[in-house]
Amino acid sequence: MIRKLLKKAIHPFLKFGMEKFFAKPRLFAHEGIEVIVMPEVFPPHYTFSTKILLEYISSIDLKSKTFLELGCGSGIVSLFAASKQAIVTASDINSIALKALKDAKIKNNLELEIINSNLFNQIENQSFDYVIINPPYYPKDPKNVKEQAWFCGENFEYFENLLPQLSKRSDHTILMILSEDCDIQKITNIADKNKLQLHIEIERTRFSERTFIYRISRKLQ
Ligand SMILES: C[S@@+](CC[C@H](N)C(=O)[O-])C[C@H]1O[C@@H](n2cnc3c(N)ncnc32)[C@H](O)[C@@H]1O
Repeated sequence: MIRKLLKKAIHPFLKFGMEKFFAKPRLFAHEGIEVIVMPEVFPPHYTFSTKILLEYISSIDLKSKTFLELGCGSGIVSLFAASKQAIVTASDINSIALKALKDAKIKNNLELEIINSNLFNQIENQSFDYVIINPPYYPKDPKNVKEQAWFCGENFEYFENLLPQLSKRSDHTILMILSEDCDIQKITNIADKNKLQLHIEIERTRFSERTFIYRISRKLQ
């Protein structure tokens, strides 16, 4: 509660500072892998989600595993997975992000496939050992490509579209990261409607904000 009030109070200053800082392309690096984050792309610098995913991925054996990052943004997670010898596909609807990732792939000398796809539309016929999703989750209609990284639509349209697609897929492990700041109950209800369930795989607390990586699976009948 106190955290939420504090966050609300400092939010306008934080937003202003962030907008100024991220008005220019910015470097982000993890374990020697570098990406340039364009102003229109989700910045992994100050949010916890990308870093928690990177930490999680470092703990699993990805050698020769097929790995999809759905909504890859800067692509740092995909590049890191590729450095761990996963067979990586990185997808997004943000063509600016994908262009920067193509450059980063060359610069870091890593192999991955980069696909422009609205959710699974262009990846329908492939299944993966791992699908990793760091979704937009604030309920507001995105006005532009940058906002699509943050806002899932007034009525959670992103999840209303994603979860029926997930329910028809045969990927081995589907992981989605969510913070307690979002309406997890609403997302769980949409999953339930699509005969899917969310299990907490790991939980992390940073600055008293709890973040969960959920494993998504079919509901047992
Ligand atoms: C919260 S950002 C996460 C970026 C990156 N995965 C990370 O962890 O740093 C969400 C990403 O999903 C992408 N996205 C939003 N809607 C999408 C859709 N319908 N299909 C594919 N990607 C989408 C956004 O462009 C953005 O790059």
